[in-house]
Amino acid sequence: MSGLAVVILAAGQGTRMLSQQPKVLHALAGIPLLAHVVRAAMGLRPERLVVVVGFGAGAIQEAIGKVLPNAGITWVTQEERLGTAHAVGCALPALSGFHGDVLILNGDHPLIRTPILEAFVAAHRDEGWAVTLLSTTPATAAGYGRVVRRAGGRLERVVEEKDATPAERDLVEVSTGTYCLAADRLPGWIARVGNANAQGEYYLPDVVALAVADGVGAGAFHHPEAASLVGVNNRRHLAQLEGLLRDRLVGEWMDRGVTFVDPSSCWVAADVELGADTVIFPHVILGPGVVVGRDCEIGPFCQVVRSRLAERVRVLSFCHLEGAEIAADCVVGPYSRLRPGTELASKARIGNFCETKKARIGVGSKVNHLSYIGDAEVGAGVNIGAGTITCNYDGILKHKTVLGDGVFVGSDTHFVAPITVGDRAVVGAGTTVTEDIPADALAVARAPQRNIPNWTARRPKRSK
Ligand code: UD1
Ligand code: CA
Repeated sequence: MSGLAVVILAAGQGTRMLSQQPKVLHALAGIPLLAHVVRAAMGLRPERLVVVVGFGAGAIQEAIGKVLPNAGITWVTQEERLGTAHAVGCALPALSGFHGDVLILNGDHPLIRTPILEAFVAAHRDEGWAVTLLSTTPATAAGYGRVVRRAGGRLERVVEEKDATPAERDLVEVSTGTYCLAADRLPGWIARVGNANAQGEYYLPDVVALAVADGVGAGAFHHPEAASLVGVNNRRHLAQLEGLLRDRLVGEWMDRGVTFVDPSSCWVAADVELGADTVIFPHVILGPGVVVGRDCEIGPFCQVVRSRLAERVRVLSFCHLEGAEIAADCVVGPYSRLRPGTELASKARIGNFCETKKARIGVGSKVNHLSYIGDAEVGAGVNIGAGTITCNYDGILKHKTVLGDGVFVGSDTHFVAPITVGDRAVVGAGTTVTEDIPADALAVARAPQRNIPNWTARRPKRSK
């Protein structure tokens, strides 16, 4: 939007969270609270985007920089937390030379959506008020500033809960802490806000009463979608919002062609990407950093983080995937764990009770049963028998196992790395491989079998 600057307030500690961590860094749908607000603000394409930080400023800047590297934020520090009006005062230098409308957002209202903000700014401009407040009517008004209107409905002021009379506390319309006002009026009002109130703080909401006193017009834009407008002050709120956001995110993916068999049992991070016709079974956790292609299937009770799945990948029930890259048409599971650095080429197959780590598995290769494959490069068309283990760690260093194309590994094989096996070589079952195997060779290393005739007759009898 042209002529718009956004200021997000995020300097508070969030004492009601009882946390060492700044409140706005607590995760919601896998990314910090503040990242949600910044994303909603970015959707408006403002001319300036200012974020006021104080408690934990460095950590906040670093975390937001990681999640939203191109947000174009001007960071401002509020050294002493003297209240929301004081925080806005700290942002004024970052607004110098800007003469449009300033939209002020609370960093702890993470479910705010860009279209609501667009409608709010549009209402502010259409009504011509000097200051407009975004209000809503949540299920419970406790903890919020109440919107006080005069007879006839005109906005009079906002009263904080701690300063409210019992009658004012009964008001159900609350302030979301979101304001739109003219940049040119802001410094004058901020300078006039006092701190004679229950908390001894400089309250931004007092700007409403100042505008009314100045006779320049103040209005409240009431939005009915309270579920998107609630804030987080404690961990109960955080959990409630997690539920609301899960419903929203999963709903959006269903609208884009993804099937969730039991949406309320699944959880997806805000940054997940899912392809159409993918089916997600109950009790699946996806993200952060998960990309799933089209026509995939994620079976019940799977958790996938920081992984990319191409098209038509099937992950069967009870798998845990982290940092895995899976090409098209692979099948994984049930009951397997793919750890960071696992790369499956197309049509590869990891079966049940397998663990992989830093392992590249070639096209169509199979690790089907009870195996550990770590620090390994496995060629195409390789069959790895049940119970195969890459002994990659000698207690000090990790070593690599390299298997060529078309290798056949018998069951219960150990590769004492470093080991290189040439193309098409065969390893006999039960072999502990301690030396490289050339291409096309058969390697067997186990004690020759001895059969002792009539053993049962000579066997010592069990005492009664
Ligand atoms: C604030 C509003 C209240 C509104 C509610 C909506 C005030 C005085 N009250 O109350 O009217 O209904 O939000 O959730 O504004 N912050 C700073 N610097 C400070 C103080 C706060 O940056 O000195 C930031 C906080 O990090 C937070 C936001 O401002 O993101 C709101 O502060 P908070 O303490 O949560 O205010 P509430 O009591 O929720
Ligand atoms: Ca708050």
